[in-house]
Amino acid sequence: MGGHGHARRTDLGFPWPDPPLRVVLVQPEIAPNTGAIARLCAATGTPLHLVEPLGFRLTDRALKRAGLDYWDAVDLHRHPSWDAWLAEAPSRFHLLSTAGPRAHFEAQYRPGDALVFGCETSGLPDAILARWPDRVLQIPMRTDRVRSLNLATAAGIVMYEALRQCAR
Ligand SMILES: C[S@@+](CC[C@H](N)C(=O)[O-])C[C@H]1O[C@@H](n2cnc3c(N)ncnc32)[C@H](O)[C@@H]1O
Repeated sequence: MGGHGHARRTDLGFPWPDPPLRVVLVQPEIAPNTGAIARLCAATGTPLHLVEPLGFRLTDRALKRAGLDYWDAVDLHRHPSWDAWLAEAPSRFHLLSTAGPRAHFEAQYRPGDALVFGCETSGLPDAILARWPDRVLQIPMRTDRVRSLNLATAAGIVMYEALRQCAR
């Protein structure tokens, strides 16, 4: 058996999607959530798109603390509005909402797809959900117990399901 040395980290030879997935946060309000998602994006080579207005400044200490040293590794894009993002959005995107009629693992994810999340208090606007009803996905939850998952938790769950599918 080995001694007490540090285990060596490897990247497992994982086949990261090319083009990468994208994460889109529509009007996020809470800095630590965006920080945690930025770290997730850095760890997976996933561009992060922020649709303004944001509920914090990108210089916010809480944002930096949550993302730790990883901001330099994030491919960050800012958009002044939903319409501005839509104008350059990929044709394939998935909308994550507690109101989704289908489970997130029933969708088919492909390299280049965008995963779109709503803000912490009100989620994605009804007008967006109503315009693309076939793209709305829900992560299964005990709705008798909670109203929603934390935004960063939801992003992590969907990200790794999408990566798993893209790797097949
Ligand atoms: C805190 S939740 C928003 C809560 C809001 N009251 C609602 O019901 O949409 C923030 C975002 O996380 C994502 N989210 C949280 N729980 C989810 C779930 N069970 N299924 C899908 N998305 C979820 C959605 O993108 C949501 O807009």
